[in-house]
Order: sequence, then structure tokens, then C-alpha cells
Amino acid sequence: MTRRPAGAEGRHVSARGGTRTPLIAGNWKMNKTVAQAEEFIAGLLPRISARAELDVAICVPFTALQAMVDSARGSGVEVYAQTMHEELEGAFTGEVSAPMLTELDVHGVVLGHSERREHFGETDRALAAKVGAALEAGLHPILCVGETEEERERGETDRKLRHQVQEGLHLLDADQIARVTIAYEPIWAIGTGQVATAQQAQEAVAFVRALVGDKTPEAAEAVRVLYGGSVKPDNAAELLALPDCDGALVGGGSLDPEGFAGIVEAARGA
Ligand code: 13P
Repeated sequence: MTRRPAGAEGRHVSARGGTRTPLIAGNWKMNKTVAQAEEFIAGLLPRISARAELDVAICVPFTALQAMVDSARGSGVEVYAQTMHEELEGAFTGEVSAPMLTELDVHGVVLGHSERREHFGETDRALAAKVGAALEAGLHPILCVGETEEERERGETDRKLRHQVQEGLHLLDADQIARVTIAYEPIWAIGTGQVATAQQAQEAVAFVRALVGDKTPEAAEAVRVLYGGSVKPDNAAELLALPDCDGALVGGGSLDPEGFAGIVEAARGA
């Protein structure tokens, strides 16, 4: 099947003056069997309307990818994987490659989530290769970055973000960078209910965009920067209205269709 380059369609000139289509992506992490995933999508689709000005994605376990691609087909809801290996094939037991994902019509992949960096030893070096491999295959990568609570308290947030953004993008040219989505997810806000304040989130997403701009100014206008960490229907509108925030990566809040639809609707209003 032919695949379009990630992000090449569905772009519009946004109210922000750029060409960034906001994205609300639900990261299910290690949740939902295929049966539970089917129940979710059956509950979600009637609650949301597919419209060109907003992208909606669910990032599901490998085992549910095929079922979700089939069930979401034609709905406008995109299906992402949560990780992948940078090599195309080989002796990497337990891993999944980009061609294995594109064969299923998977739209994109989350890369460098802090849980993968922490629990599975995912390195900046491997991530740089993964982002390139994903783009090469026509997958839309979401590269995750973010600081720990200690790093924020020590005033090292900018240093951490600079390192992760520069390392994650360093193998890419300007055209490729423009097709990456970056998710700023402060680790202290993930799964804690302690959402970043609007000011903290805006400062960080704007800083991430400025870091991209240091590499290539055109890409900075095009690259989507999301916020993630305890996003819920009742705080989504404020975060999504921030000038540099192009959407959200949602964990716990994406597990039930009603709550996730509430976040999608908040994004449409923002
Ligand atoms: P929570 O929304 O559960 O805080 O998780 C955020 C996250 O890690 C999304 O990738």
C-alpha cells in the first residue's frame, strides 16, 4: 500500500499563523486487550466528529494495532504504536520494526517516552536513529522529552530539554524535522494528577520550539509541540489554548472514551 509522507496532508493555516494541525493523542501504555480496545473505539467514535482542523490518535499496544486500524478506518482517528526498533529487521528478540508497523497501516509511533527511557534503557542515540527510521518509513514520530522533578528544582529543565531535543533530532535535515511532533512531558506530571501550570507548560513548549528554531527556523514554525502530563477534560482547554501548544499526549485520561472525547472537544474549542 502506498503511504503518504507523515503530516503532508491535513495541514491548514492555523489561528497561530503557522501550518500546524493540532493533535490529541491518547497513549494507552500497557492497557487494554483487543476486546477492551474494541469496546473503547465503539464508545469513542460516536462521541467525536472527524474534522480537518484537528488530528486525533490513539497509541495502542502492539497486540491491538491491527484491530484498531481496522475499527478506526475511515473515522479520522489515527492509530500509533508506542515504540519501535530503529533497524528494519534482524536479531532483536521482542522488537518491532517500522515496516512491520506500516504494513498494518499504522500512522505513527511514540518514541522516547520517559517510561521507556527509564525502564527499558532507551538512549538518545538510539532515539535519533528511531526518529529517522520512522520518517523514512512514512510513520509520524512523536518524540517525547521532559525533566524530572529534581531537575526542575535544580533549575536544569532547559539543559535537559536542550539535550534531548538536540540529540533526538541531530540526524535529521530541515524537511524531516518539520515532520516530527515533539511532546513535552514533565516526568513529575505523568500519572500524578499534578498538571503543569499554564505558565510552566507554555514556557517549556515555547523553549522546545526555540530549540528547533536554533537548528532550522522554518521547521520551528511547522513542528508540532504537544504537552503531556495529567491532561484531563477539565484542564485541557487552558493548556490547549497556549500559543505554542499544538495539542496533548494523554495517558490515564485517554483510557475511557467519554473522558478522551471530552479532551478532544476541549481541543476543538481552544
Ligand atoms: P498521564 O496523562 O496519565 O499523566 O500520562 C501522560 C503520559 O505519559 C502520556 O504519554
